[in-house]
Amino acid sequence: MSFDRKIKIAPSILSADFANFGAEIRAIEAQGADWVHVDVMDGHFVPNLTFGPPAVKAFRPHVKTFMDVHLMIAPVDPWIEAYAEAGADMLTAHVEAGPHIHRTLQAIRAAGMKAGVALNPATPAAAVEHVLDICDMVLVMTVNPGFGGQSFIDLTEKVRRLRAMIGDRPIHIQIDGGVTPQTAPLVAAAGADVLVAGSAVFRGGSVENPAVYGANIRAIREAAEAALAG
Ligand code: DX5
Ligand code: ZN
Repeated sequence: MSFDRKIKIAPSILSADFANFGAEIRAIEAQGADWVHVDVMDGHFVPNLTFGPPAVKAFRPHVKTFMDVHLMIAPVDPWIEAYAEAGADMLTAHVEAGPHIHRTLQAIRAAGMKAGVALNPATPAAAVEHVLDICDMVLVMTVNPGFGGQSFIDLTEKVRRLRAMIGDRPIHIQIDGGVTPQTAPLVAAAGADVLVAGSAVFRGGSVENPAVYGANIRAIREAAEAALAG
């Protein structure tokens, strides 16, 4: 996929109906999702547990856009090949998940995927300064990872710093946690281009009533784009 900095909305299926992932993925894509964000949690790096490679592999045929897999697991390296086989387009690992993020990002690319690097709220932008040339995305967590539906932590200064550090490199800045039509303009204006949203996309909708997903996605996108135009 070619690189661009247009605003992209990546619904997190953490807020979908867990008994109906295939239909939920098809519904959000039909309603305008640009990417599908898949939250993998291990009950160790974060205090919650979701799913692993076999589930991600089962999602794959339903995802026609771009499958963005956010690993909240430690260690990461023993699992990279399994997520490549499961069909992840992008695999994102946390800098806090181990001592060798440089090696991890190289291994993700060597396995044929785009490589993302994630920062918890307390981790400074400088933590990724020396891996920018081997990554495709920096994910800025605006909640402490583990759960959907938490309130947004304002880290726009960190986003601005990352945007300046990245310069002309083809690297996305993704925001994850508490993204709504109210918070999206702050991070878009600071330089983020990929907005993950779980509760703000799935709230009020269902596979029987998918138009709500569409309205929710549009509301986030329009708020973010208005901040860039203004
Ligand atoms: C949190 C996950 C997020 C989460 C976002 O650990 O990484 O992707 O689903 O949920 P909302 O948008 O509800 O904050
Ligand atoms: Zn996530």
